[in-house]
Amino acid sequence: MAKRIAILTGGGDCPGLNPAIRGVVLKAAKLGYECLGVQEGWKGMIEADARPLSPDDVREIVVKGGTILGTSRTNPYKKDGGVERVLEAFKTLGLHALVAMGGEDTLGVAAKLFKEKKVNVVGVPKTMDNDLSATDFTFGFDTAATIAVDAAERLVDTGRSHRRAMVLEVMGRHAGWVALYTAIGAGADYLCLPERPVDVKDLCAKVKAAHAKKKVALVVASEAVEFAGEKKDEKLDDFGHMLLKERGVGARLAKMIEDGTGIETRHAVIGHIQRGGAPTLFDRILGTRAGVKAAELVHAGEFGKMAALKGTEVVAVGLDAATAKLKTVTPDWLDLSDDLI
Ligand code: F6P
Repeated sequence: MAKRIAILTGGGDCPGLNPAIRGVVLKAAKLGYECLGVQEGWKGMIEADARPLSPDDVREIVVKGGTILGTSRTNPYKKDGGVERVLEAFKTLGLHALVAMGGEDTLGVAAKLFKEKKVNVVGVPKTMDNDLSATDFTFGFDTAATIAVDAAERLVDTGRSHRRAMVLEVMGRHAGWVALYTAIGAGADYLCLPERPVDVKDLCAKVKAAHAKKKVALVVASEAVEFAGEKKDEKLDDFGHMLLKERGVGARLAKMIEDGTGIETRHAVIGHIQRGGAPTLFDRILGTRAGVKAAELVHAGEFGKMAALKGTEVVAVGLDAATAKLKTVTPDWLDLSDDLI
C-alpha cells in the first residue's frame, strides 16, 4: 500500500492555498504516495476527519480562491486532550506524514508537535499578512495587496468627484506589509502602519496639502494602527491574538481627518474581500512551488521543516525559525515609503 500524506490548511484562508494543495498532491502522486485532505485545519486532525485527495480532485483548483479543505483557528494545545487526539488520528488515518499549511499559529502547532512528539510534519507558509520570518514572501499577500490597490483606485475616483478625503482600511494584523504595498502601489497621500503610532497633526497637514493640489486625498491604514495613549483591546482568539475587526481604525481616522482639516472624509474597510477570489499568477506559482517542495521534503524525510522562498529559490528552513519572530515592516521600507508618500 502507498504511504499516506495528509494535508491541512489552518488559520485565515488566503488565495494560493488551492495551488499549494494541488502542488503537494500532484508531486506526491509522482513520488508514489497517496494523499488525504484533512477538513478544517487542526480541528479535522483532532476529529480524524479526512478524505482522499486524488490528482483528479485537484487538477483544476489552481485557479480557485479559498481552500477546498476548509479551515479553522482551532489550536489542539488549547483543547482538552487535543494533542493526544491528533496523535491518535495519525494512527487511525494511517499517516506517514502531515503537511500543515498555515501562518504563525498553524505552523507553531506543527513545530511543537515535531519537537515534542516527533510527529512527521512539514510546513507550507501562507498568510496574506506576509508576516512570517524565514520566508521572503508568503502566498496570499500578492493577491490581497493587488485587490486593495484596486479598491484604493476606486476610492480615489469617487473621492475626487466629491472633493473628499478617502481612507482605506486594510487587514494585515500587526505587520503593515499590505498597507505599505497598497499605499505605494496606489500612490496614496498618507500611510498609517502598526509599526509606528499615528501622528494626527502630521496626517491632517499632509491630507490638507494633497487635497489642495488634487481635490482628493487617499489615506491607507492598517487595521492594527495604534493611537497614542490608547488602551489595547483585550479580546483574544484561541492563539492569543487580539481581535482587530472591531477597532474601527478607518472610521476613526476619517473622523480625525474631518475634524482636523474640515475636509469631508469617507472611509472603506476592505476586510475579507482581500482574502477571496482567484489568486494572482504570482500566488499561483508560489503556492504551487511551496506545495511541490513540501512533498519533496516528506519524501526526503526532512521533517520539522517548511518550504520557504529565499530570493528566487524555494528552500527548506526549520519550522522553529519560521515561527520565532513576526516579520514586521523594516526601517529601510519605512524610509522608502517616507520618500514616496
Ligand atoms: O491573518 C490573516 C487575517 O486576514 C488578518 O489580516 C486579519 O486580522 C485576520 O486574519 C482576520 O481573521 P478572521 O478571518 O478570523 O476574521
